[in-house]
Amino acid sequence: MVARTIPVETFDLVIFGGTGDLARRKILPSLFRRMREGQMPTDARIIACARGKMSRKAFQQMIREALEEFIPNDTDRPEDLVGTFLKALDFVTLDVMGTQGWDDLAGKLRDDAIRAFYLSVGPGLFGAIASKLSETGLATPESRIVVEKPLGHDYTSACELNRQLSASFDEHQIYRIDHYLGKETVQNLMALRFANALFEPLWNAQHIDHVQITVAESIGVEGRGGYYDKSGAMRDMVQNHIMQLLCLTAMEPPARFEPDAVRDEKLKVIRALDPVTSEETVRGQYRANGEGGYLDHVENPDSRTESYVALKVQISNWRWAGTPFYVRTGKKLRSRMSEIAVIFKEVPHSIFPEVSQRKGNALIIRLQPDEGITLRMTIKDPGPGGMRLREVPLDMSFADALADAGAVPDAYERLVMDVIRGNQTLFMRGDEVEAAWAWTDAILATWDDSGDRPHPYDPGGSGPEDALALLHRDGRRWREVET
Ligand code: BG6
Repeated sequence: MVARTIPVETFDLVIFGGTGDLARRKILPSLFRRMREGQMPTDARIIACARGKMSRKAFQQMIREALEEFIPNDTDRPEDLVGTFLKALDFVTLDVMGTQGWDDLAGKLRDDAIRAFYLSVGPGLFGAIASKLSETGLATPESRIVVEKPLGHDYTSACELNRQLSASFDEHQIYRIDHYLGKETVQNLMALRFANALFEPLWNAQHIDHVQITVAESIGVEGRGGYYDKSGAMRDMVQNHIMQLLCLTAMEPPARFEPDAVRDEKLKVIRALDPVTSEETVRGQYRANGEGGYLDHVENPDSRTESYVALKVQISNWRWAGTPFYVRTGKKLRSRMSEIAVIFKEVPHSIFPEVSQRKGNALIIRLQPDEGITLRMTIKDPGPGGMRLREVPLDMSFADALADAGAVPDAYERLVMDVIRGNQTLFMRGDEVEAAWAWTDAILATWDDSGDRPHPYDPGGSGPEDALALLHRDGRRWREVET
């Protein structure tokens, strides 16, 4: 049997903001799981940097507690491995804008280990840390730098951020995380399309009626009101995560599964996106309904920021002209459900006139929950009584089909190991981020110009009424938001 994990070479991973929420909740538990699976070498080192004073021991204790909280099952956290993992951790008190701590950090890095700097800090510090790493000589020509959204607030700020990073790091050293690309099902989308001969001949405007991309969340802004109110669903979800899903669904087959081959194809999709008119967008904001609404959660009674957005997106190229991609995302919806639904055209001529097919075939790629793939087919209803047709799902839940594969790994496990392996395939390139912002900015500008308020919608529903109309106008309907 082929080994499921390929061990990586030893590394020094420096995490700026190493005591922060992302580090405790995602990065360090993911690294622990990778050590448990035998991928992370036991002599690798993880050096957390933060401004506050803290001893190495106190940091190790903090991470012990984080592992207990975020990997709650004792059997997933054998004590001997926790001990080994904690020994790999170190801590440096460091002032990213000043001089304190940089020499300490330098003293802890090895010349013969892969070196990666993970900037788990606010984007306002990315540029300063990058240049400091370069000035102090800590960044070698092969070391990697990892950054994560928000990668800019608009096109201009994204270009500025890229300029700051590229002043100190070459593009092949910069790893821009979009955690959706680390999700197993998202990678499976590429396997499904490019490792099966079945779908690709049908994957175009001739056979596909439309595509629906849904990322519905049941949670609200959950204490992130300050950040979220300045972003909204468009900046928080569409410009990045949904854009990536759209690109992987729509792109041409790359010639090779290599970073630039894949990213070139994604970029071509973004550049082929038509500008979206204001009639092709719907914005919503969840209202108070028994409990606090969006305006209460962000503590801004005048906010015009959207917690829901639906768009009709057209791709002007030979493959997709005439086949719209409808995308929607929102908070406080009925359930947490993310999927890509590819709706095929109906048969050109039905020989079953009385019971003609109402719906075409549909291929549903479920990202969460219950990752898997469903193909909607039409079959004959069993039994006598004429030719009655009905729709049935051909269903594959990854959890059932791949029961021997164990739990689906967290996106960060895959992504952090890819950084160490030096594989940028699942990371965004600078030009991709800029192109996505250029398209997003135009939509944001139409909203600013109109001055309209987002439509209120009830928490626990499927979004504002107007979002239904967006598809009804085209004689189509959204799939239900349900688990
Ligand atoms: C983040 C957004 O990038 O993705 C959040 O900032 C959102 O607002 C989250 O809740 C969704 O991620 P996931 O993996 O839970 O679908």
